[in-house]
Amino acid sequence: MTQPTSRTRVAIVGGGPAGLMLSHLLHVAGIESVVLDTRTAEEIEATHRAGILERDSVRLLAESGVSGRVLAEGHEHQGIELRFAGTSHRIDFQRLVGASCWLYPQTEVFLDLHRARVRDGGDLRYGVASTEVIEVLDRARVRYTDLDGLRHEVVADLVVGADGSRSATRALVDPRRQYTREYPFAWFGVLVEAPPSAPELIYTRAPSGFALISRRTDTVQRMYFQCAPDEDADAWSDDRIWSELQTRLAGDDGFRLQEGPVLERTVLPFRSFVQTPMRHGRLMLAGDAAHTVPPTGAKGLNLALADVRVLAECVERALLRGDDAALDTYTDRAVARVWRAQHFSYWMTTMLHRLPGATDFDEQRQLGELTSLVSSEAGSTYLAEGYTGWPQ
Ligand code: PHB
Repeated sequence: MTQPTSRTRVAIVGGGPAGLMLSHLLHVAGIESVVLDTRTAEEIEATHRAGILERDSVRLLAESGVSGRVLAEGHEHQGIELRFAGTSHRIDFQRLVGASCWLYPQTEVFLDLHRARVRDGGDLRYGVASTEVIEVLDRARVRYTDLDGLRHEVVADLVVGADGSRSATRALVDPRRQYTREYPFAWFGVLVEAPPSAPELIYTRAPSGFALISRRTDTVQRMYFQCAPDEDADAWSDDRIWSELQTRLAGDDGFRLQEGPVLERTVLPFRSFVQTPMRHGRLMLAGDAAHTVPPTGAKGLNLALADVRVLAECVERALLRGDDAALDTYTDRAVARVWRAQHFSYWMTTMLHRLPGATDFDEQRQLGELTSLVSSEAGSTYLAEGYTGWPQ
């Protein structure tokens, strides 16, 4: 039996960065929402994800009043290094497109958004169970079980599925079309206790595969290397991890990574996925619930924030100005960016990773592509534009 019923304007399923940012933007517009998540806020906080924010993601956080911490504590990166055939080539974002990106881990984005919603009295219901969207056509109804085991119902004008890559809400979109690409590799991600090895991120293509050197703090660094999808992270000793990373970064310039204890090791799944449309009746999807990108290029969180910015505008027009047609424009507006980001992530991935069974021709062609890119102003600009984020 269903017990208490509450009423709100927008029920948001998923309290990660996408759901919280939407709730925040709606609050700024004077629209109330309820955020539901089966995880606790502490569980979400403990999840390590990518760390790069595009220029407009930083603006959104700072200008919508979430927090200025990204500007004070995030690290501005004015370029990246592309490394192949043992040599590094800098892509200078500022010179090429007058933009930067910021190294500011997703955990910090979540913390900032969570604090902002708590500060503004947001209705956040974390740690609930059995969340179920039961109606999306005439009105939106969501049920869940609270921490005391009591079943609740939330009735809303709209429901948003921001429930991540294992979304349950996306199955309610009918008819739907799904586009998927699997890759025959994954990333081995490590968090290490060591000083930074380089001031900027290094994306490397080596004969044995891809590696990425990223940063976290002055004493903790984030690094990744291409591995098999079924790699057992626990089978790797610290020595074996360092030897693999050093081999992939080695070059004529004698570059060496600064080593230290490995604090954490995980194998990250790798997939491209899009589901359309992103709206069905009173249900709208946002972020990973509607699309997943491989982590090369760090587009996942940025794309989720871009969805939510468009969605907030459509919801505002529908709920405050009675312009229901605004909801019809959401899919087309969001999906245009989704496919640009899908292409960018796929392109960065295939340009830098070793495909199992690659022939000598494939390898030389890949080196040819990288050489063209770094020696062409147009090619480098194309990468810089995509990496720092296309204007909205
Ligand atoms: C990270 O720092 O975790 C990171 C950075 C860039 C990427 C992916 C992950 O492309």
